[in-house]
Amino acid sequence: MNLLAPHSELLATLQRRLGPHGFTTDPFDMEPWLTDWRGRVRGEAAALLSPANREEVADIVRLAGAARVAIVPQGGNTSMVAGATPVAGSLLLSLRRMRAIRSISPDDNIATVEAGVILSDLHDAAAAIGRRFPLSLGAKGSATIGGLVSTNAGGTQVLRFGTMRALLAGIEAVLPDGSLFEGLSALRKDNRGYDLRQLLAGAEGTLGVITAASLKLVPAVGSRAVAWVGLESPDAALRLLRLLETRLGDRVEGFELVPREGLGLVLLHVEGARNPLAADHAWHALVEVTAPEGEPEPAERLGEILAWAMQETLIQDAVIAANEGQAQAFWALRDNLSEAERRDGISVKHDIAVPVAAMPAFIAEASPMITAAFPAARLLPFGHLGDGNIHFNIRNPAGSDAAAWFAQNNVAVSRLVHDLVTKAGGSLSAEHGIGQLKLAEFARLAGPVRLGALRAIKHALDPMGIMNPGKLVPLAPGEAAP
Ligand code: FAD
Ligand code: MLT
Ligand code: ZN
Repeated sequence: MNLLAPHSELLATLQRRLGPHGFTTDPFDMEPWLTDWRGRVRGEAAALLSPANREEVADIVRLAGAARVAIVPQGGNTSMVAGATPVAGSLLLSLRRMRAIRSISPDDNIATVEAGVILSDLHDAAAAIGRRFPLSLGAKGSATIGGLVSTNAGGTQVLRFGTMRALLAGIEAVLPDGSLFEGLSALRKDNRGYDLRQLLAGAEGTLGVITAASLKLVPAVGSRAVAWVGLESPDAALRLLRLLETRLGDRVEGFELVPREGLGLVLLHVEGARNPLAADHAWHALVEVTAPEGEPEPAERLGEILAWAMQETLIQDAVIAANEGQAQAFWALRDNLSEAERRDGISVKHDIAVPVAAMPAFIAEASPMITAAFPAARLLPFGHLGDGNIHFNIRNPAGSDAAAWFAQNNVAVSRLVHDLVTKAGGSLSAEHGIGQLKLAEFARLAGPVRLGALRAIKHALDPMGIMNPGKLVPLAPGEAAP
């Protein structure tokens, strides 16, 4: 073993350096941060460190490196793959106290914010200056900028604005040797070789600790129209999306797929949730179209297109939100799906991507293959159809013991789904990352060239392997854990 548990002298030094607000070993204070959001993995940490600024982060990393102690960076702990769950003997490094908005300007459309800023707080800050930060997801009330950058998060506006990488203009990070990389100046052009900013994005805390980021803002929305549509298949949904894009261009900002079972879970578990349509539909699409300030509201045009689509039997029914409250209620049906699924019980979750045009056929072909192999398993494919990214989740047969079914089938179910995805040229992680829950499958399916390059980069920047060990980067055959 290369890595060591922190000795008492190191802990005492950290305690002195960080003070009472920045250091604790109290089990009560640490408890909420030791288990992942899904409740799948419980970790352990020698201490919870909450630095107040980048200098404290740099000192922690330098001291931990000198003592060969592992560091696990953590933001809101909303990872879907237990990426921020600490490993035994590690220092859990929370960025949650670092939540300053250092600058935000409508002139250059950039916000420079510390890693612990919560996504919804950034949304509010941007709105206050007539701008917006166009990345949103169900965990926006807890997920932090550091975590969102480190997972290259996607969410529900990728269709128009891309994932976090596309919105990242600059980064500040403490590298594994304790040095500070200052790359916040949001240059539109910068060709000084390898892009460290993009290397740290999606690195899941394995290459350093992000302390701040410069993020691109876009003009605030003038008005929006949000529709809830009933249709018979993912294929019809994709055809509807292409129709909307043809007629409305990039004003189509959101297009999410929700199956009957998904809506059912939200109606069952989320207080106040109501089905916007009268009849039952096998599939639904949530559509958001926006217009800039000064332009006509998009509801009328969207209504015309949906009416035409209904006449052509492309869709079965649709309703456009009559006001902002209803628009939010439609979005809540989508955003609460993960929470409703969690309340319902354990499920085998997947986060797959295939080329966009191939996704409807993938769902149609994979579904019967899965139920043939796992009879009566309940399928819940939902999400970002327009990005070719579906959460192809699978639950136990109705009425059976969920935990027992999960324990028995979890690994085999995921292998089947991931094999099918790999055969279709896809990815087993579209937006959640690898963390620890997907590590074995990633090692099995990634191929030696990808894995070799990943390991070489990791080793070059973090030769001792102190940054978030056991996540993202699989060990090489025969390699000992750090
Ligand atoms: P954490 O969970 O704390 O950490 C995530 C990873 O980043 C870990 O590997 C951690 O070590 C690392 N990390 C955290 N902070 C830093 C830092 N400052 N420096 C270096 N490394 C760091 N994801 C999507 O992409 N799209 C979605 O639509 C989506 N919806 C979600 C809905 C719900 C209800 C939930 C619970 C999660 C959802 N997610 C989604 C998962 C998503 O990955 C996270 O919400 C978010 O990206 C993580 O932010 P966080 O601050 O909670 O990070
Ligand atoms: C979502 O799109 O809601 C998320 O990525 C979370 C999930 O997969 O449950
Ligand atoms: Zn998602």
